[in-house]
Amino acid sequence: MKVRLKFYVEYKIGIIIIIIIIIIIIIIIFIYLQYVSIQSYIQTHEATIVMFIFREIPLGFDVTALYNDLKSRSAKYGGYYSFLTPVFVPVDLDLIKKILISNSDCFIDRVSYVDEQNDPLSVNLLHAHGETWKRFRAKISPSFSNSKIKTFLPIMMTKSRDLIRLIEETVNKSEPLNVKEVLDRYTIDVIGLYTCATDFGALKYKDSEIKHQLSEFFNTSVINSLIRFLITAPKILKYFKIMTLTKKVTKFFMTLVNEIIKNQSQNESRGTAVLDILVKAESSSREKFTRSEIVSYSTLQHFFSETIRKYPLATITTRECTKTFHVPDSNIILEKGAHVYIPIRGIHWDPEYFPNPEKFNPERFSKEHISERHPCMWFPFGLGPRRCVGKSRNICS
Ligand code: HEM
Repeated sequence: MKVRLKFYVEYKIGIIIIIIIIIIIIIIIFIYLQYVSIQSYIQTHEATIVMFIFREIPLGFDVTALYNDLKSRSAKYGGYYSFLTPVFVPVDLDLIKKILISNSDCFIDRVSYVDEQNDPLSVNLLHAHGETWKRFRAKISPSFSNSKIKTFLPIMMTKSRDLIRLIEETVNKSEPLNVKEVLDRYTIDVIGLYTCATDFGALKYKDSEIKHQLSEFFNTSVINSLIRFLITAPKILKYFKIMTLTKKVTKFFMTLVNEIIKNQSQNESRGTAVLDILVKAESSSREKFTRSEIVSYSTLQHFFSETIRKYPLATITTRECTKTFHVPDSNIILEKGAHVYIPIRGIHWDPEYFPNPEKFNPERFSKEHISERHPCMWFPFGLGPRRCVGKSRNICS
């Protein structure tokens, strides 16, 4: 009996050692391949290479670091390998303009992972590729037109009053207030009403299901961060059928959207009825802006613009090369499939463009300063055909 047990324990230890050796061999091969590919990239592309295998800083901030490094050497571009995919990082503003605007047909996709079958929520406007994206964008753009803002503002005003009431109640009870949590709930209600004509009641009910599911959606656990990082290697995600969101979250949102569509088709007027009621309620109390209000509004805009210069929501934006592109004045050819990372934060914090970049200075956005600015010096909403679809609404609100 004792002999059999000993044999069993030794057998198990043996298996574990073999697994560890296999893992070590895989890691060595991976690092070697990275090294070899990086070497060939240096030779063929004369680009600066930074190795990001073991990341200590979030994606976006490492691209900022690369941008600063390239800028200090007056380079117009640089690059590195993410897994085995070459990543091109343009630094020169005219080159960025070419990629995002003038030659946007060569970079119509964003680096993203789409798997309609296994991960249905991955097929969205932000991630969609090629013709699917074009179709989505054409359908959704009218809902974000300036005229639609007229229906958006009343929703915001109504929900803002609920928000103020909630804040006052909490303060009157001398209870602590989690500002971010309350604003999250406010945003859920405003977006729910605008996009789905549905009041999710997130402000009213502290622990609403939608709020819970959305926190899962934006979950930043180690596993989730790793999966998000793997988006830069979509083939791996697809091969292992890894979902970017959990099955539970996917099921929740698929069911929610289906129910909303079903309800709206059963009662055709409902979708616009909610908006209509809000618009009517507000339009009677709407006043004309006074001169001082207009002045304070433009000051507010300067504050807003400076805030998203310093803290851009997207520290980088990405493009995937969809057609061969020759980088002007160089021997670099970006082949179909190459990734391009545009360093938004790096540029927003570049002292050449924004002296004392760490200083919060809304004056940078006064009329005279804006007029002489290159379009790629401040672009928190991205640029070109894939720029943020919510841009006009953001500016307005
Ligand atoms: C301050 C708020 C916001 C900022 C700073 C922001 C920023 C951005 C950026 C940088 C991009 C990538 C653009 C590019 O690659 O050129 C983007 C894309 C996008 N944004 Fe926003 N965004 C904001 C709010 C919103 C809102 C409120 C909505 C919707 C209601 C929205 C919907 C989208 C969509 C759908 C895309 C993908 C567009 C496409 O690929 O066609 N964003 N946003």
